[in-house]
Amino acid sequence: MRPILWDSRGLRLLDQRLLPWQEKYLRLRTPQEVKKAIKDMVVRGAPAIGITGAIGLVLGAEKIKARSKRDFLAKFRRIAESLKKARPTAVNLSWAIDRLLNRAEDLNVSLEEVVEILRAEALKIWEEDIEANKAMGRFGAKLIPDNATVLTHCNAGALATGGYGTAIGVIRAAYEAGKNIKVLADETRPWLQGARLTAWELKKVGVPVEIIPDVAAGSLMAQGKVQAIVVGADRIAANGDVANKIGTYSLAVLSKENKIPFYIAAPLSTIDMATSSGQDIPIEWRDPKEVLYCAKKRIAPKGVSALNPAFDVTPSHYISAIITEKGVVQPPYTESLKILFGV
Ligand code: MRU
Repeated sequence: MRPILWDSRGLRLLDQRLLPWQEKYLRLRTPQEVKKAIKDMVVRGAPAIGITGAIGLVLGAEKIKARSKRDFLAKFRRIAESLKKARPTAVNLSWAIDRLLNRAEDLNVSLEEVVEILRAEALKIWEEDIEANKAMGRFGAKLIPDNATVLTHCNAGALATGGYGTAIGVIRAAYEAGKNIKVLADETRPWLQGARLTAWELKKVGVPVEIIPDVAAGSLMAQGKVQAIVVGADRIAANGDVANKIGTYSLAVLSKENKIPFYIAAPLSTIDMATSSGQDIPIEWRDPKEVLYCAKKRIAPKGVSALNPAFDVTPSHYISAIITEKGVVQPPYTESLKILFGV
């Protein structure tokens, strides 16, 4: 379950569009190819696109021909700004790219050394993400009761991160701690990340999972068949509002109605203290064709279009707690997130 490979053979991404039917890696050589792969969902999930974006930027840095450090930085910045535009909602992408930009700007060494240091920094972002996932697992597992059925949405697992997963990491950790856990995975129209990716991952690690149509979640909650909901995040605003895969907001509202705890699991790299509330989070709208077609077959009459917002915003008052690598954060988030960042 390794969505990203980066070694002496270069960068290869597991083509997530082909899962669960085929496990095929695509070789990427340039930042332009990386940008397209992120846009086209070869790799997806907030932390995974951050890591991939950082590696894409290093691939660009390796090829820059510069006369001076100033020249290098100007070219480097252009590549960085272009990569950031691949997808707008997940803040992890610009966070990871800005981290490399700041690192490069602060250095006073030869250009060869700059590239070497950037390579190490991208690897560090990746390693830190895996560690953060494991820590979230340790903190979050305690919130999941024994014998619980846990509902999740989209895919916030190893495929969406550096490895292990955020929401799925919490579920895996509870399972690995010996709890009797069952997962209901929302299929997650239109990309079917739940049916294709979450079910694939959980099956591989042996966690019992059943797929449900997105529209069945509310009724199952009302029947007492869900004890907790855990999802990931693409961006968390300073007041605790959360942007995540479209459909998350409906789950959150339904969880309140049915008195079921609703947890977000996300690393600090997903928290954007510069965005004050969910209203300011840019929401990606994708091609209506993704809704109008299923498995390459048109499922709606010709001449009818569709709306395809890829994410929604869940107001913080629906969120029972946010699980991070530094611990579990409770409301009021405006205060607790500040404490988390030491501001
Ligand atoms: O469009 P996607 O598949 O990139 O959306 C992914 C999600 O919404 C995830 O829940 C989120 O990125 C968290 S991944 C740990």
